Amino acid sequence: MKPIIFDVDTGIDDALAMAYALHSPELEVLGFTTCFGNVAVEDATRNTLAVLEKLDRHIPVFSGASQTLKRGEKQKYPKHVHGEDGLGNTRKEVPILQASQGKAVDFIIDQVKSRPNEITIIAVGPLTNIALAIKKAPDVMSFVKELIIMGGAVKVPGNVNPYAEANIISDPDAAELVLASGLPVTLVGLDVTMQTCLPKAKVGEWRATGKESAGFFADMTDYYMKAYDASHPGLGGCALHDPLAVGVAIEPDFVNTELMNINVVTEGEETGRTIGQADSESSIRVCTEVDATRFVKHFLERVI
Ligand code: BDR
Ligand code: CA
Repeated sequence: MKPIIFDVDTGIDDALAMAYALHSPELEVLGFTTCFGNVAVEDATRNTLAVLEKLDRHIPVFSGASQTLKRGEKQKYPKHVHGEDGLGNTRKEVPILQASQGKAVDFIIDQVKSRPNEITIIAVGPLTNIALAIKKAPDVMSFVKELIIMGGAVKVPGNVNPYAEANIISDPDAAELVLASGLPVTLVGLDVTMQTCLPKAKVGEWRATGKESAGFFADMTDYYMKAYDASHPGLGGCALHDPLAVGVAIEPDFVNTELMNINVVTEGEETGRTIGQADSESSIRVCTEVDATRFVKHFLERVI
Protein backbone atom coordinates (compact mmCIF):
# COMPACT_ATOMS: atom_id res chain seq x y z
CA MET A 1 0.00 0.00 0.00
CA LYS A 2 1.25 3.50 -0.85
CA PRO A 3 0.94 5.92 2.08
CA ILE A 4 -0.78 9.06 0.81
CA ILE A 5 -1.42 12.60 1.98
CA PHE A 6 -4.30 13.93 -0.08
CA ASP A 7 -4.47 17.73 -0.46
CA VAL A 8 -7.90 18.84 -1.69
CA ASP A 9 -10.11 21.92 -2.30
CA THR A 10 -13.27 19.80 -2.29
CA GLY A 11 -15.04 20.47 -5.06
CA ILE A 12 -17.10 17.95 -7.05
CA ASP A 13 -14.25 16.24 -8.91
CA ASP A 14 -12.24 16.29 -5.67
CA ALA A 15 -15.11 14.41 -4.01
CA LEU A 16 -15.10 11.81 -6.81
CA ALA A 17 -11.32 11.52 -6.49
CA MET A 18 -11.68 10.95 -2.73
CA ALA A 19 -14.14 8.10 -3.27
CA TYR A 20 -11.90 6.54 -5.92
CA ALA A 21 -8.86 6.74 -3.61
CA LEU A 22 -10.69 5.41 -0.56
CA HIS A 23 -12.01 2.45 -2.55
CA SER A 24 -8.53 1.58 -3.81
CA PRO A 25 -6.65 -1.04 -1.77
CA GLU A 26 -3.33 0.07 -3.27
CA LEU A 27 -3.54 3.40 -1.38
CA GLU A 28 -3.44 4.09 2.35
CA VAL A 29 -4.79 7.62 2.84
CA LEU A 30 -3.13 8.89 6.04
CA GLY A 31 -5.03 12.17 6.06
CA PHE A 32 -6.60 14.93 4.01
CA THR A 33 -5.37 18.52 4.01
CA THR A 34 -7.63 21.25 2.70
CA CYS A 35 -7.04 24.48 0.83
CA PHE A 36 -9.16 27.32 -0.56
CA GLY A 37 -9.79 26.95 -4.29
CA ASN A 38 -13.13 25.70 -5.56
CA VAL A 39 -14.60 27.14 -2.34
CA ALA A 40 -13.36 28.91 0.80
CA VAL A 41 -11.17 26.66 2.96
CA GLU A 42 -13.90 26.32 5.65
CA ASP A 43 -16.20 24.87 2.98
CA ALA A 44 -13.45 22.69 1.53
CA THR A 45 -12.94 21.21 5.01
CA ARG A 46 -16.68 20.76 5.60
CA ASN A 47 -17.10 19.13 2.18
CA THR A 48 -14.20 16.77 2.80
CA LEU A 49 -15.79 15.74 6.10
CA ALA A 50 -19.22 15.38 4.44
CA VAL A 51 -17.78 13.04 1.80
CA LEU A 52 -16.00 10.95 4.45
CA GLU A 53 -19.23 10.75 6.42
CA LYS A 54 -21.16 9.51 3.38
CA LEU A 55 -18.46 6.90 2.78
CA ASP A 56 -18.39 6.01 6.46
CA ARG A 57 -14.63 6.53 6.68
CA HIS A 58 -12.96 8.22 9.63
CA ILE A 59 -9.71 9.64 8.32
CA PRO A 60 -8.09 12.80 9.75
CA VAL A 61 -8.80 16.08 7.95
CA PHE A 62 -6.56 19.11 8.58
CA SER A 63 -7.64 22.58 7.56
CA GLY A 64 -5.08 24.50 5.53
CA ALA A 65 -4.54 27.72 3.61
CA SER A 66 -7.37 30.24 3.37
CA GLN A 67 -5.53 32.51 0.96
CA THR A 68 -2.66 32.68 -1.49
CA LEU A 69 0.99 32.63 -0.51
CA LYS A 70 1.70 36.28 -1.32
CA ARG A 71 -1.19 38.17 -2.81
CA GLY A 72 -3.96 38.00 -0.23
CA GLU A 73 -6.60 39.42 -2.59
CA LYS A 74 -10.24 38.42 -2.16
CA GLN A 75 -10.88 35.07 -3.79
CA LYS A 76 -13.58 34.41 -6.38
CA TYR A 77 -14.98 30.88 -6.25
CA PRO A 78 -16.32 29.06 -9.35
CA LYS A 79 -19.92 28.58 -8.12
CA HIS A 80 -21.15 27.98 -11.67
CA VAL A 81 -18.96 24.82 -11.76
CA HIS A 82 -19.12 23.46 -8.20
CA GLY A 83 -22.26 25.16 -6.76
CA GLU A 84 -22.75 27.50 -3.79
CA ASP A 85 -21.53 24.84 -1.35
CA GLY A 86 -18.87 23.33 -3.64
CA LEU A 87 -20.73 20.03 -3.90
CA GLY A 88 -23.35 21.03 -6.48
CA ASN A 89 -25.69 22.24 -3.68
CA THR A 90 -26.10 18.72 -2.28
CA ARG A 91 -24.66 19.35 1.19
CA LYS A 92 -27.84 19.47 3.25
CA GLU A 93 -26.59 18.90 6.82
CA VAL A 94 -23.53 20.01 8.73
CA PRO A 95 -21.29 16.92 9.01
CA ILE A 96 -20.94 15.34 12.44
CA LEU A 97 -17.31 14.47 11.79
CA GLN A 98 -14.90 17.17 12.92
CA ALA A 99 -11.61 18.38 11.53
CA SER A 100 -8.48 17.40 13.46
CA GLN A 101 -6.67 19.90 15.65
CA GLY A 102 -3.53 21.31 14.10
CA LYS A 103 -2.55 22.82 10.80
CA ALA A 104 -2.37 21.14 7.40
CA VAL A 105 1.21 22.29 6.90
CA ASP A 106 2.38 20.71 10.17
CA PHE A 107 0.58 17.45 9.44
CA ILE A 108 2.35 17.25 6.07
CA ILE A 109 5.78 17.98 7.59
CA ASP A 110 5.31 15.58 10.54
CA GLN A 111 4.21 12.71 8.31
CA VAL A 112 7.10 13.15 5.86
CA LYS A 113 9.54 13.42 8.78
CA SER A 114 8.29 10.21 10.36
CA ARG A 115 8.31 8.27 7.07
CA PRO A 116 11.17 9.64 4.92
CA ASN A 117 11.09 8.61 1.24
CA GLU A 118 7.79 6.79 1.72
CA ILE A 119 5.02 9.35 1.36
CA THR A 120 3.24 10.29 -1.83
CA ILE A 121 1.36 13.58 -1.78
CA ILE A 122 -1.55 13.92 -4.19
CA ALA A 123 -2.41 17.62 -4.56
CA VAL A 124 -5.56 18.51 -6.47
CA GLY A 125 -6.14 22.13 -5.47
CA PRO A 126 -3.99 25.29 -5.40
CA LEU A 127 -0.46 24.43 -4.25
CA THR A 128 -0.45 26.76 -1.23
CA ASN A 129 -0.21 24.11 1.53
CA ILE A 130 2.64 22.33 -0.25
CA ALA A 131 4.49 25.61 -0.81
CA LEU A 132 4.06 26.54 2.87
CA ALA A 133 5.42 23.16 3.94
CA ILE A 134 8.46 23.54 1.63
CA LYS A 135 9.08 27.05 2.98
CA LYS A 136 8.79 25.92 6.59
CA ALA A 137 10.78 22.68 6.38
CA PRO A 138 12.68 22.40 3.08
CA ASP A 139 14.99 19.67 4.38
CA VAL A 140 12.13 17.49 5.59
CA MET A 141 10.14 18.02 2.40
CA SER A 142 13.08 16.82 0.29
CA PHE A 143 12.12 13.37 1.63
CA VAL A 144 8.71 13.34 -0.10
CA LYS A 145 8.69 10.23 -2.27
CA GLU A 146 6.47 11.67 -4.98
CA LEU A 147 4.23 14.69 -5.46
CA ILE A 148 1.40 14.06 -7.91
CA ILE A 149 -0.19 17.37 -8.90
CA MET A 150 -3.42 17.92 -10.79
CA GLY A 151 -2.62 21.23 -12.36
CA GLY A 152 -1.29 23.08 -15.36
CA ALA A 153 -1.77 23.10 -19.10
CA VAL A 154 1.59 22.64 -20.79
CA LYS A 155 0.85 21.89 -24.46
CA VAL A 156 -2.88 22.73 -24.42
CA PRO A 157 -4.94 25.84 -23.59
CA GLY A 158 -6.03 26.65 -20.04
CA ASN A 159 -9.53 26.30 -18.63
CA VAL A 160 -9.77 29.68 -16.86
CA ASN A 161 -8.40 31.63 -19.82
CA PRO A 162 -6.37 30.65 -22.90
CA TYR A 163 -3.22 30.30 -20.77
CA ALA A 164 -4.01 29.11 -17.28
CA GLU A 165 -5.45 26.10 -15.51
CA ALA A 166 -7.58 26.74 -12.38
CA ASN A 167 -5.36 25.22 -9.66
CA ILE A 168 -2.23 27.00 -10.89
CA ILE A 169 -3.81 30.42 -11.44
CA SER A 170 -5.45 30.24 -7.99
CA ASP A 171 -1.96 30.61 -6.47
CA PRO A 172 0.71 31.06 -9.15
CA ASP A 173 3.41 32.00 -6.62
CA ALA A 174 2.84 28.75 -4.71
CA ALA A 175 2.94 26.78 -7.96
CA GLU A 176 6.17 28.49 -9.01
CA LEU A 177 7.79 27.67 -5.66
CA VAL A 178 6.71 24.02 -5.72
CA LEU A 179 7.66 23.43 -9.35
CA ALA A 180 11.10 25.01 -8.80
CA SER A 181 11.74 23.04 -5.58
CA GLY A 182 13.34 19.99 -7.20
CA LEU A 183 10.80 17.62 -5.58
CA PRO A 184 9.93 14.58 -7.71
CA VAL A 185 6.72 15.81 -9.34
CA THR A 186 4.28 14.14 -11.69
CA LEU A 187 2.19 16.85 -13.32
CA VAL A 188 -1.27 15.65 -14.29
CA GLY A 189 -2.52 18.66 -16.22
CA LEU A 190 -5.25 19.48 -18.70
CA ASP A 191 -2.98 17.90 -21.36
CA VAL A 192 -4.28 14.55 -20.13
CA THR A 193 -7.31 15.27 -17.92
CA MET A 194 -9.22 16.87 -20.81
CA GLN A 195 -8.89 13.59 -22.70
CA THR A 196 -10.86 11.77 -20.00
CA CYS A 197 -14.64 11.87 -20.02
CA LEU A 198 -17.25 10.53 -17.63
CA PRO A 199 -20.27 9.91 -19.89
CA LYS A 200 -23.57 11.39 -18.67
CA ALA A 201 -25.35 8.02 -18.68
CA LYS A 202 -23.13 6.71 -15.88
CA VAL A 203 -24.69 9.09 -13.38
CA GLY A 204 -28.11 7.50 -13.90
CA GLU A 205 -26.54 4.07 -13.34
CA TRP A 206 -25.08 5.24 -10.02
CA ARG A 207 -28.49 6.54 -8.89
CA ALA A 208 -30.16 3.29 -9.96
CA THR A 209 -28.02 1.33 -7.47
CA GLY A 210 -30.22 2.84 -4.73
CA LYS A 211 -27.18 3.32 -2.49
CA GLU A 212 -27.31 6.56 -0.50
CA SER A 213 -23.70 7.48 -1.23
CA ALA A 214 -24.21 6.71 -4.94
CA GLY A 215 -27.19 9.13 -4.99
CA PHE A 216 -25.06 11.80 -3.29
CA PHE A 217 -22.32 11.49 -5.93
CA ALA A 218 -24.90 11.30 -8.75
CA ASP A 219 -26.60 14.54 -7.63
CA MET A 220 -23.37 16.51 -7.38
CA THR A 221 -22.06 15.09 -10.67
CA ASP A 222 -25.28 16.14 -12.44
CA TYR A 223 -24.49 19.72 -11.40
CA TYR A 224 -20.92 19.39 -12.74
CA MET A 225 -22.22 17.88 -16.00
CA LYS A 226 -24.46 20.92 -16.52
CA ALA A 227 -21.46 23.23 -16.18
CA TYR A 228 -19.63 21.08 -18.74
CA ASP A 229 -22.64 21.18 -21.09
CA ALA A 230 -22.39 24.97 -21.03
CA SER A 231 -18.61 25.18 -21.43
CA HIS A 232 -18.02 22.10 -23.63
CA PRO A 233 -21.21 21.47 -25.61
CA GLY A 234 -21.04 18.14 -27.41
CA LEU A 235 -18.64 16.47 -24.95
CA GLY A 236 -21.48 14.38 -23.51
CA GLY A 237 -20.05 14.32 -20.01
CA CYS A 238 -17.39 15.85 -17.80
CA ALA A 239 -13.63 15.62 -17.49
CA LEU A 240 -12.19 13.65 -14.55
CA HIS A 241 -9.41 16.03 -13.52
CA ASP A 242 -8.75 15.13 -9.88
CA PRO A 243 -9.64 11.43 -10.24
CA LEU A 244 -6.90 11.06 -12.88
CA ALA A 245 -4.28 12.21 -10.34
CA VAL A 246 -5.48 9.35 -8.09
CA GLY A 247 -5.43 6.98 -11.07
CA VAL A 248 -1.78 7.86 -11.74
CA ALA A 249 -0.94 7.16 -8.07
CA ILE A 250 -2.52 3.70 -8.37
CA GLU A 251 -1.39 2.81 -11.87
CA PRO A 252 1.40 5.02 -13.33
CA ASP A 253 0.96 3.20 -16.65
CA PHE A 254 -2.29 5.04 -17.35
CA VAL A 255 -0.10 7.89 -18.64
CA ASN A 256 3.05 8.55 -20.63
CA THR A 257 5.30 11.31 -19.36
CA GLU A 258 8.04 13.62 -20.60
CA LEU A 259 10.76 15.13 -18.40
CA MET A 260 10.50 18.91 -18.44
CA ASN A 261 11.32 21.97 -16.41
CA ILE A 262 8.21 24.04 -15.78
CA ASN A 263 8.17 27.80 -15.43
CA VAL A 264 5.05 29.36 -14.00
CA VAL A 265 4.19 32.84 -15.25
CA THR A 266 3.43 35.00 -12.20
CA GLU A 267 2.92 38.44 -13.75
CA GLY A 268 0.90 39.93 -16.61
CA GLU A 269 -1.75 38.65 -18.95
CA GLU A 270 -0.39 35.09 -19.03
CA THR A 271 -0.27 34.67 -15.23
CA GLY A 272 -0.80 31.03 -14.32
CA ARG A 273 0.62 29.69 -17.57
CA THR A 274 2.86 26.62 -17.17
CA ILE A 275 5.65 26.72 -19.74
CA GLY A 276 7.46 23.43 -20.26
CA GLN A 277 10.96 22.91 -21.58
CA ALA A 278 12.32 19.42 -22.23
CA ASP A 279 15.16 18.52 -19.84
CA SER A 280 16.29 14.95 -19.30
CA GLU A 281 17.68 15.94 -15.86
CA SER A 282 14.42 17.45 -14.62
CA SER A 283 12.61 16.08 -11.56
CA ILE A 284 9.24 16.90 -13.16
CA ARG A 285 7.42 14.30 -15.23
CA VAL A 286 4.73 15.98 -17.30
CA CYS A 287 1.89 13.68 -18.37
CA THR A 288 1.41 14.09 -22.10
CA GLU A 289 -0.63 11.01 -23.08
CA VAL A 290 -3.28 8.98 -21.29
CA ASP A 291 -5.00 5.66 -21.90
CA ALA A 292 -8.34 7.30 -21.13
CA THR A 293 -10.44 4.20 -21.88
CA ARG A 294 -8.55 2.03 -19.41
CA PHE A 295 -8.49 4.75 -16.75
CA VAL A 296 -12.21 5.58 -16.98
CA LYS A 297 -13.09 1.88 -16.77
CA HIS A 298 -10.91 1.49 -13.66
CA PHE A 299 -12.42 4.61 -12.07
CA LEU A 300 -15.99 3.40 -12.75
CA GLU A 301 -15.28 -0.02 -11.25
CA ARG A 302 -14.30 1.62 -7.96
CA VAL A 303 -15.86 5.03 -7.40
CA ILE A 304 -19.32 3.99 -6.22
C1 BDR B 1 -9.06 21.71 -11.32
O1 BDR B 1 -9.72 22.89 -10.86
C2 BDR B 1 -10.76 22.58 -9.98
O2 BDR B 1 -11.92 23.24 -10.36
C3 BDR B 1 -10.95 21.09 -10.03
O3 BDR B 1 -11.34 20.59 -8.77
C4 BDR B 1 -9.62 20.58 -10.46
O4 BDR B 1 -8.77 20.36 -9.36
C5 BDR B 1 -9.26 21.55 -12.79
O5 BDR B 1 -8.67 22.61 -13.49
CA1 CA C 1 -9.67 20.23 -7.09
